[in-house]
Amino acid sequence: MVTCLGAEGNNLVFNAKLADASAEEAYRSLTVPVFGKGVVYDVHNSVLMEQKKFVKAGLSVENLRAYIPMIEMETKNYLSRWNKKSDVQDIHKAMAELIILTASRCLLGEEVRSKMDESFAQIFHDLDGGFKPINFLFDDLPLPSNRLRDKAHVRMRHFFIDILKHRRETGKVDSTDVMQYLATNCQYKSGRNLTDTEVAHIMIAILMAGQHTSSTTSAWAFLYLARDPELFDKLRQEQIEILGSLDAPLTYDSLKQLTLHDSVVRETLRLRPPILHIIRKVVRDMTIPGTNYVIPKDAYVQCIPALTARSDEFFENAEEFNPHRWKDYDLQNKDRDDDLVDYGFGALSASARSPFLPFGAGRHRCIGEPFAYVQIKTILATFVRTFNLELHNNKFPECDFTTMMVQPKHPMVKYTRVDC
Ligand code: HEM
Repeated sequence: MVTCLGAEGNNLVFNAKLADASAEEAYRSLTVPVFGKGVVYDVHNSVLMEQKKFVKAGLSVENLRAYIPMIEMETKNYLSRWNKKSDVQDIHKAMAELIILTASRCLLGEEVRSKMDESFAQIFHDLDGGFKPINFLFDDLPLPSNRLRDKAHVRMRHFFIDILKHRRETGKVDSTDVMQYLATNCQYKSGRNLTDTEVAHIMIAILMAGQHTSSTTSAWAFLYLARDPELFDKLRQEQIEILGSLDAPLTYDSLKQLTLHDSVVRETLRLRPPILHIIRKVVRDMTIPGTNYVIPKDAYVQCIPALTARSDEFFENAEEFNPHRWKDYDLQNKDRDDDLVDYGFGALSASARSPFLPFGAGRHRCIGEPFAYVQIKTILATFVRTFNLELHNNKFPECDFTTMMVQPKHPMVKYTRVDC
């Protein structure tokens, strides 16, 4: 494993040529048994680019608008269980539950959401159990967790396909969910529509792609807030200034204006990006530009954008959680990456030299960012209306590096209702 450091290192890995380095080869053994065949890392990169274009189109602004009231309602319902004046809760567990509830409602529709409390939750849990670091290294080890993963994959695929069939037969269609969008609106360049199996597998992939990333990000955001209770007041103040009151419904446009809420999420992603290692497998000897160094075929290369993101070279007092640093950041850095490139799913910055790349860069860049922001900001805005948080025993959790995403260890918080 060759680790490439700094902004140049990030660029080398994110923008490696397809003929040199492959994400598919690096991630296949981990992901294909979970997602299924015919999608993402089981297909040629050009097909993945088309599939990303479909999902990105399904996450249209129109659909994101429709998701906000759904997420707000789910969050309120969930938090109504926290009905004591004050109590201690595991914030990471809470966010994991809330993220899957809101993602399944928005992306898959109400049929899946209505089963989320019963059968679907167990299937999801077993499938998720297949996401173990050891599966990076070995194809299909005979582990009990892998057998549960395989059974869960088949059940989840059938579950989604049955919903699509039922919708077709009854004409009862949810017009905003991404699953329906993929089934009815998408055609490969060859003219072929997606099969129901491909739709089901893409949906499994995006559900998994968003689950741990968004749940750990929101958990860390609340932990940083719990360490700095004044920020809760500032967030509430921002809502009152922009929305008029803490009862006003959240909308796509109003959420966009909540820039401090935005900065809290961004700053969390700067200090605690959920994906630490971006890995590619070298598929032909790869010379590092401007040097004589050659990374041999079959080695792995990785970059760690989290390092530039917490370097004083790029961010003043980089170790400090300071959401206010983002206030004029885009304005000051607007000329940095001017050239754009399109790999088939929309234009993005050609360079991957930005010090802040929590959503990656290049052909494998995340297409879930707008949804993740809408989801996390809506949860955050709804939460601060009702609760203040403190760290339980005044202890800020350490990082657990043994899990797929960097999770907080023992993330206990004490909540107090604002109205008490
Ligand atoms: C805070 C939330 C999220 C973070 C930090 C995040 C981060 C990332 C990163 C770093 C990559 C690049 C991986 C690589 O280059 O190897 C990526 C790719 C991707 N993400 Fe996200 N993600 C988030 C949420 C989501 C959500 C909600 C979805 C779906 C709705 C999603 C779907 C995808 C997809 C489809 C890819 C492309 C994979 C590829 O082309 O190889 N992500 N994400």
